[in-house]
Amino acid sequence: MRIVLGVGGGIAAYKVASLLRLFTEAGHKVTVIPTEAATRFVGVATWEALSGNPVSNSVFDDVEKVNHVRLGHEADLIVVAPATADLLAKAATGQAGDLLTNTLLMAHGPVLFAPAMHTEMWQHAATQANVETLRSRGVTVLEPASGRLTGADSGPGRLPEPEAIFAAAMALAGAESPVVQGSHPGVLAGRVVTISAGGTREALDPVRFLGNRSSGKQGAALAAAALSAGATVRFLAAHMDVEPPAGVELVRVESALELREAALKAAADSDVVIMAAAVADFRPAEVSDTKIKKVDGEDAPLVHLVRNPDILHELVERRNAEGGKQLIVGFAAETGDAQGDVLEHATAKLKRKGCDLLVVNHVGIGRVFGQDDNSVVILSGHGAEPESAAGSKADVAAAVIDRVGAELARVFPAV
Ligand code: CTP
Repeated sequence: MRIVLGVGGGIAAYKVASLLRLFTEAGHKVTVIPTEAATRFVGVATWEALSGNPVSNSVFDDVEKVNHVRLGHEADLIVVAPATADLLAKAATGQAGDLLTNTLLMAHGPVLFAPAMHTEMWQHAATQANVETLRSRGVTVLEPASGRLTGADSGPGRLPEPEAIFAAAMALAGAESPVVQGSHPGVLAGRVVTISAGGTREALDPVRFLGNRSSGKQGAALAAAALSAGATVRFLAAHMDVEPPAGVELVRVESALELREAALKAAADSDVVIMAAAVADFRPAEVSDTKIKKVDGEDAPLVHLVRNPDILHELVERRNAEGGKQLIVGFAAETGDAQGDVLEHATAKLKRKGCDLLVVNHVGIGRVFGQDDNSVVILSGHGAEPESAAGSKADVAAAVIDRVGAELARVFPAV
């Protein structure tokens, strides 16, 4: 694939060298077009060496090749990172003062902007209006990540991690991505998605806990798919066997009570909450401060359990009480039994929990825990037909995220 990588004049330009490497190592031909300001942060020599192609930002270099027309025309994909407030404004108003802005006006393929700037610049009405304009024209503008900015302050405005930009770019171009493939690019652009994953651990004493077999693989795949779909992802990780994907805002939790606190906080201003974590329904009533010892001649201790709060149900109740426009997704592992089949049990659970979508795992067919494959049925609380998805956890995640995007647009359209 032929990629044009536009680099804006921001400190995050140094991170884009890693993004360039991801593109070239995946076999793509990349032409880098830094703005004049970008070359003050990272020099032309770096871009030429890493891309293996000559680099210019002038419409007056190699005039006979008509680069200001040709590059945009020939590119299968244009990625701009970091997209500064200035570049977003220029692109939104169709300015053509240099080679990069000319190329953007000549784009024939998909265009992706990965913004990075100070929080106040990002939140300024002018920048937000420019982002809206670009999105309304079909351009994908990723949400910036939150965290430490250049100075001592922090907030939204950080460049998403190169891996996250790479995954989003590959998904946008319909190319294979080692991170995730299949979820529709941009379906969650501008949306904040909270995802819980992994299994909670309920302490018995300082060394022991009650846990479960959840690996967190499905939750991690969901986070990667949501990033690819353009969302800002808050990832609440209980115990996991895999690393969360790069580019998420990560919160680590241990127990159901810790997850509850983190979920209520993260969900407060999220557009979507996906509870993929395996939450313990019970916890030991008492946690010993010291290790519980066996004593010769005494009976084994009895562990008394108490109920944990149902976090999913609480999120739904709060959303309903506040009249919030938030899509809430639950997961359920079900088997058929004498009382009903998987779908009957799942439909009853969807009603009981009151969530908008319920992703139902068929358990007992050698899948789910710790496996790389999965098979689910997605049930809607809003009357849509059930939908099946099967395959790798990345395939299933892509199907779930596509469905989340469609349901969100239908039930709570953006104003
Ligand atoms: N969940 C939760 N808080 C809990 C337990 C579960 O938020 N204390 C969430 C899970 O993250 C999942 C969904 O609820 O999204 C379904 O969990 P499950 O344990 O299957 O639900 P239960 O109602 O406990 O099911 P059952 O009646 O079959 O035990």
